[in-house]
Amino acid sequence: MRLVRLANGKGFPALGLGTWRMGDAKRARATDIAAVKTALAIGYRLIDTAEMYGDGGAEEVVGAAIQETLQAGNVSRKELTIVSKVLPSNAGHADVLRACERSLKRLQLDVIDLYLLHWRGSVPLKDTVAAFEQLRNEGRIRHWGVSNFDSADMQQLWSLPAGANCVANQVYYSASERNIEFDLLPRQRDNGVVTMAYSPIDQGALARETTFAAIGSRHGVGASSAALAWVLRQPDVIAIPKAVSEPHLRENYLAASVQLTADDIAQIDAQFPPPKRKRRLAMI
Ligand SMILES: NC(=O)c1ccc[n+]([C@@H]2O[C@H](COP(=O)([O-])OP(=O)(O)OC[C@H]3O[C@@H](n4cnc5c(N)ncnc54)[C@H](OP(=O)(O)O)[C@@H]3O)[C@@H](O)[C@H]2O)c1
Repeated sequence: MRLVRLANGKGFPALGLGTWRMGDAKRARATDIAAVKTALAIGYRLIDTAEMYGDGGAEEVVGAAIQETLQAGNVSRKELTIVSKVLPSNAGHADVLRACERSLKRLQLDVIDLYLLHWRGSVPLKDTVAAFEQLRNEGRIRHWGVSNFDSADMQQLWSLPAGANCVANQVYYSASERNIEFDLLPRQRDNGVVTMAYSPIDQGALARETTFAAIGSRHGVGASSAALAWVLRQPDVIAIPKAVSEPHLRENYLAASVQLTADDIAQIDAQFPPPKRKRRLAMI
């Protein structure tokens, strides 16, 4: 799997697994754990989760799947990049520290590789950043970042003394939602911040889209792989599609080996034109 390089040289896998809606229902717990274990067996090495998902249930699912996979000796902890997020309602300094400990416990881990503020709330950014820096210094997280931050939010973050230590912003980005290309993505590129694309197949819609189906068939893959390959065409963008079904997990993983042609890109631009003006960051 290709790595997306952070400014400090560390690499994160370009394609990861999303987990929103996993852990929601107790009766689906075994299926969800099996899906994450299957993803690890296929080769996924980055998993995105959040304290919000399933009210901690998704972190528990990820934790159980990782533990079982590590114990089987199939993967080592250092190969994995585990991403979780703190809610804005827990973004105060002491609250972040407590929320992180709860997430670590549910994930059955000693350290979270990337810890994000899920979206901006009313807590002053400097308090959250101070807590993130403390967690990093204490070895409870390796890196920190944000999510759903638009350009003005990033500007405020970068104006803080430790703001430059933000390594990633996770935002809604797919061929059908290209808003960020106008200014957020280039600004993040200039500042060494990796873009993590959430809902990269637009919650399944692009897996049924005819342009991507046609492009996919030229490359011997499905529409979903083609849509993900389009997101991954940029060296500093990570895509985190969520899937529970094994065929979906396998198909999405193929995206990492698809090289779109200039003709493919032109066809996608015609169907999904790039933005011509700034619009507010879309959120799901
Ligand atoms: N930071 C944030 O605010 C934020 C917001 C939204 C999402 N996220 C993160 O981003 C992840 C991905 O976003 P998402 O879950 O909203 O949407 P997504 O990954 O674009 O789409 C997921 C949906 O597509 C289906 N699917 C996956 N692969 C498919 C394939 N090859 N063919 C057909 N259908 C397929 C899945 O079905 P099955 O599950 O049945 O396989 C699921 O219903 C989330 O899980 C979460 O980790 C973050």
